[in-house]
Amino acid sequence: MAEATRISGTEFAKGLRARLAEQVTQLKSDHKLTPGLAVVLVGSDPASEVYVNSKGKQTVEAGMNSWTYKLPEETTQEELLAKVSELNADPNVHGILVQLPLPDHLDERPIIAAIDPSKDVDGLTNTNAGLLLSGGEGLFPCTPVGCMMLIKHAMGEDLSGKRAIVIGRSNLVGKPIAQLLLRKNVTVTMAHSRTDDLPGECRRADIVIAAVGVPEMVRGNWIKHGAVVIDVGINRVPDTREGAEEGKTRLVGDVHYDEAFEKADAITPVPGGVGPMTIACLLHNTVTAACRQNGVERPAE
Ligand code: GUN
Repeated sequence: MAEATRISGTEFAKGLRARLAEQVTQLKSDHKLTPGLAVVLVGSDPASEVYVNSKGKQTVEAGMNSWTYKLPEETTQEELLAKVSELNADPNVHGILVQLPLPDHLDERPIIAAIDPSKDVDGLTNTNAGLLLSGGEGLFPCTPVGCMMLIKHAMGEDLSGKRAIVIGRSNLVGKPIAQLLLRKNVTVTMAHSRTDDLPGECRRADIVIAAVGVPEMVRGNWIKHGAVVIDVGINRVPDTREGAEEGKTRLVGDVHYDEAFEKADAITPVPGGVGPMTIACLLHNTVTAACRQNGVERPAE
């Protein structure tokens, strides 16, 4: 039997960042426009700090302006709202991202709601969520946008009539992916923890998207022959493989990779699949936002 193709998000994201850097060069020379992204981090959560530093580094590497604001843990709601207002008013800032989760004393919804939707490169405001739902032109969440790029890379642009299952109904991933698929005429099943006969539902799907946060939940015998499998999960588990050092851990997705690899036509690994696409798509959204705010046509990819 033919083996699956391993969809390398690492490679795809590298190519996307290179194409974005070319677009930025073109925007600078043709329109004197340098796209700029501001990232706000409150507190010192180590994982968030790594993520935010990585965003800043990749933004600069793409030739864009980058501002990172690291605010103290004790920042108040009013102070954070004031920072968002300041960034909304700055014409050099085209994209704003407030790193989540925020410390417990801060209320996330009003902070997100305060971001100018045209600068909401995370696609989290109600305006952008509504535009996604109604088929409008907005800014959409980065991980779902990255998943769509990988699906099209594996299956081609025309997804009409395909069946997809999205396992997981989060606002950041599951729901927006389902909407992006619907916009491409895919027949979408939304599955979640209460779905009856999940393996049976999964076996009908040409596209399986797993975004539940349960390590290796999707087994090989859930996958239809020739399906495309996109694994959004990133779970750290004890490494119980033969030869592994005592106490070691490893990252796995929501899909049992080795089993699914035997059935799928193409599958994303964890790590190195969807993960690297998220920041690349953040840069993509920032270029889109900069072009729209300045009435400039986005350079072709
Ligand atoms: N924290 C982890 N992922 C994300 C993301 O995509 N956006 C924001 N704002 N915070 C995050």
